[in-house]
Amino acid sequence: MGEHVRDEDLLEKVTNLAKRRGFFFPSAEIYGGFRSAYDYGPLGVNVLRNVKNAWWRSMVQMRVDVVGLDAAILGPPAIWAASGHLETFTDPLVDCRKCKERWREDKIDGVCPNCGSSEFTEARAFNLMFKTQAGPVEGEGATAYLRPETAQGMFTNFANVLATTRRKPPFGIAQVGKSFRNEITPQNSIFRTREFEQMEMEFFVAPPEADTWYRYWIETRFAWYLALGIAPEKLRLHEHEAKDLSHYSRGTTDVEFDFPWGWDELEGIANRGDYDLTQHANASGVRLEYFDQATNERYVPYVIEPAAGATRAMMAFLLAAYEEEIVEGETRIVLRLHPRLAPYQVAVLPLSKKPELEALSREVLSLLQPHVMCDFDVTQSIGRRYRRQDEIGTPLCVTIDFDSLEDRSVTVRDRDSMAQTRVSIDDLAATILSRLD
Ligand code: GAP
Repeated sequence: MGEHVRDEDLLEKVTNLAKRRGFFFPSAEIYGGFRSAYDYGPLGVNVLRNVKNAWWRSMVQMRVDVVGLDAAILGPPAIWAASGHLETFTDPLVDCRKCKERWREDKIDGVCPNCGSSEFTEARAFNLMFKTQAGPVEGEGATAYLRPETAQGMFTNFANVLATTRRKPPFGIAQVGKSFRNEITPQNSIFRTREFEQMEMEFFVAPPEADTWYRYWIETRFAWYLALGIAPEKLRLHEHEAKDLSHYSRGTTDVEFDFPWGWDELEGIANRGDYDLTQHANASGVRLEYFDQATNERYVPYVIEPAAGATRAMMAFLLAAYEEEIVEGETRIVLRLHPRLAPYQVAVLPLSKKPELEALSREVLSLLQPHVMCDFDVTQSIGRRYRRQDEIGTPLCVTIDFDSLEDRSVTVRDRDSMAQTRVSIDDLAATILSRLD
C-alpha cells in the first residue's frame, strides 16, 4: 500500500487532480470564476451520482420503512416562518474595520484572516437564505426562498405521504437534492459552498421510541461511511452540548471526518422532537399527526433526522482515497475509491490500435456497458493508460491483446494490487460484477 500524502498538501493535490482530470471546476471560470460555486465535470458527475445512489440504496432501496420524495426548491415565506429559518437561520457577521473584509465572527478567533487586525464592527445577524421573486410581479406576495435544507419538504408533505403510502411510525421520508445557503465564508473547495447537495431523511417515530431510534441512526450512518471505504481512524462521532444545539434540536451528533484542516462535520443526526410538525400544523391549520388505530391514540410523531451533504461526502471520499506510492522508480497516484463510487468501474483497453483488436474491444465494451460505467482508451502505451486509470480510481482495467483474438480471453488488472489475471470473455461480466462490492 502507498504512502498517505501529508495533510497540508492533500487538499491542494486533490483539488488539482479534480481540475486536471475533470472531477470539478470552479464555476464560470472563463469569466474569472464565481466564488464558492463549482461545476462537476465528466468524472465528478459520476462520483457525485454514485455517492447519491449509494445513499439512496442504503436508505430507501434496502429498507421497507423509508420512502422517497423530490420536493420543490422554491418555497413561500410561510414555510420558512414556520420552520424558524426566517428568524434564526443566521450567522454572526462582522466587518474588519481596517481592510473591510466580512467574516463569520465565530470562525475567526478575533483576528482578521486577511490583514491581522483585531478591530471589527459589532456582530449582526445575517440570514443565510437566498431570497428571490416568483413571477413577473414584484412585492410581498411574490417573495420566494431557495430552500436552505431539503428537510422541510418532508414535513410539508407528511400528510400526503401518510395518506398515499399508508405507512405508520416508525417510517421515514428521504430526499436528495440541492440546497442553497448564502454562506459568509465559503471555503475549502467543495466542502462549504453556497449551492450544494444534501441527502436527508426524516424518520417519524412514537415519542417514547425517539431516543432508541436516535442511537440507531447514529450507528447506521457511521457504518455507511466505513462500508464505502473510509478508514475508521478518519471518522469520529461528536455529540453536541446542549448550549450548541440548533433551535429545533433535542440532541445532535455529528459524524466527523479528519479533513486536512482538522476534524469537521460530514453529517448531523438530530432528534428534532415534534418541533417541525407542530410548527407547520399551527401555521397551516392542517393537522399533522398520526392516529394509531390499535391504541385509539392520536400523537405528533418525533423526528430523527440523519442529514448529510452529498458534495461534502464526495470531498471526503476523494481525500480519503488519495495516495501516492513509488512503483518502478516513478510516483504512482492512485485513488483507492470504493468501486461503487469510482467514476468508471472498468476501463477497456485494446493493446494496440490494430482494427481487429479495436473491434473485439468494442464487443467487450458493449458486453460490460449495460452493467457498469466503462471508459474506453486507445491512446498511449498500456503502462501510461493504467496510470491514468489509477489516478481517477478505476478499480479494474480490461486489456485486449493479440492472444485475445485466438483464445477469447482478456487480462483483468486490479488497481490496488496491480495483479493481472486472465479471464474468458464469456465469464467477464460475471467476474467483474463479483469484484465490485
Ligand atoms: N436539515 C438539517 C440540516 O440541514 P445541517 O447540519 O445544516 O443540517 C446537513 O446540514 C449537512 O449538509 C451538513 O452536515 C453538510 O454535510 C451539508 N452542508 C451544510 N451546509 C453546507 C454547505 N454550505 N456546503 C456543503 N455542504 C453543506
